[in-house]
Amino acid sequence: ILTKLKHECATPLPVLRRVADAMAADMRAGLAVDGGSDLKMILSYVDSLPTGNEKGLFYALDLGGTNFRVLRVQLGGKEERVIDTEFEQVSIPQDLMFGTSEELFDFIASRLATFAQKEGGKFHLPPGRKKEIGFTFSFPVRQTSIDSGILIKWTKGFAVSGTAGRDVVACLNDAMERQGLDMRVSALVNDTVGTLAGARYWDDDVMVAVILGTGTNACYIERKDSIPKLQGHVSASGRTIINTEWGAFSNGLPLTVFDREMDAASINPGEQIFEKTISGMYLGEIVRRVLLKMAEDGALFGSSIPEKLSMPFVLRTPDLSAMQQDNSDDLQAVGSVLYDIAGVESNLNARKIVVEVCDTIAKRGGRLAGAGIVGILQKMEEDSKGLIFGKRTVVAMDGGLYERYPQYRRYLKDAVTELLGLEMSKNVVIEHSKDGSGIGAALLAAANSKYEHSF
Ligand code: BG6
Ligand code: GLC
Repeated sequence: ILTKLKHECATPLPVLRRVADAMAADMRAGLAVDGGSDLKMILSYVDSLPTGNEKGLFYALDLGGTNFRVLRVQLGGKEERVIDTEFEQVSIPQDLMFGTSEELFDFIASRLATFAQKEGGKFHLPPGRKKEIGFTFSFPVRQTSIDSGILIKWTKGFAVSGTAGRDVVACLNDAMERQGLDMRVSALVNDTVGTLAGARYWDDDVMVAVILGTGTNACYIERKDSIPKLQGHVSASGRTIINTEWGAFSNGLPLTVFDREMDAASINPGEQIFEKTISGMYLGEIVRRVLLKMAEDGALFGSSIPEKLSMPFVLRTPDLSAMQQDNSDDLQAVGSVLYDIAGVESNLNARKIVVEVCDTIAKRGGRLAGAGIVGILQKMEEDSKGLIFGKRTVVAMDGGLYERYPQYRRYLKDAVTELLGLEMSKNVVIEHSKDGSGIGAALLAAANSKYEHSF
């Protein structure tokens, strides 16, 4: 089973190249017309990037990763930059992921109200001026302006009823009204877009942002004259950020029976195939399915099949990372994880096999993510001739998977280097931009403030 798995998950250079090329081609098709490819290539309505001049007090909400966060950011302009930030985070209660739209948005608004109440009267705004929010909402949204957008569908295991097809800012406004909160959303952004804006604030060479966490996605700076589907809508000059929603990519991926079965059992079969192959929500589950098969057909853990191993999602990606950090001779930590998580007693040989399975799935994920990044850079390079690979270009990365799975990170970087070659890859800087999306959303709220003057 292991040999076959390794063979089917292999990502030698030709496979990486095929994926990078397909990513670039799908991007073009998605920019040509809506529905032109798996990639939605969503217009963000973010046409100007942070300059450093942003000033004032802004809030940010961040919904869509493992945690929900509320932030307050005080921006001081060119000299002082970020004067102060404060944030609170909570994990999203499971039942809200399957509840109603009102319940979810009431939860968000109530956390925001509690956060704002704790300030007491500390932050005064001029009379008549509302506190402004940058709302990071990390799901596919068809933006209708910088401060409105319709949820296309939920991803990452969310199945909240009554939100798809509605303007999520209106949903939040209604909930804020129910809470008696007098605040307004000035920018609605995807987490990738928030991350790009946040990273760009400190570094002008940032051109792409990628999230590798529970889910995965990428956005990048595009020339408007390279977006055929824009024609007739907005002036086709200048640049804008495109949210690719690359989680839906599916072309040329090396998939196995375990991937197909996991997809079939998911709440969104046939959708988000790239996400299901490379992101944090799914890597643990793929490994669990492989181990179950090994236990059933190969007696990996002895003659009985551990009951807990049959529970979907019992093994999580952080467990894979923890097991891969075990350098001890007897793989003690691997044994503990298997015992604690799946109730499995294991001998050294079984532990070694488990680590190999983790490595195979993490390696495929990391390398495919690297190929996706090269696909984006390749597309940008083709249109700009030398402006990407001929100079320093930064890809800002965030998300728990990237942050906390060193092997995955290394595989990603190896794939980028293999694809670009040593010389060219020196210009491409892949950099962690921790929690930048919160500040990024606040910056975009500032840039799109409804009030003429900063205060
Ligand atoms: C955070 C970003 O650091 O990473 C969020 O600020 C993003 O905007 C999140 O959604 C994704 O990571 P995870 O691992 O929480 O899904
Ligand atoms: C999912 C969402 C996407 C988000 C990504 C990372 O793919 O659809 O909008 O950016 O997860 O959080």
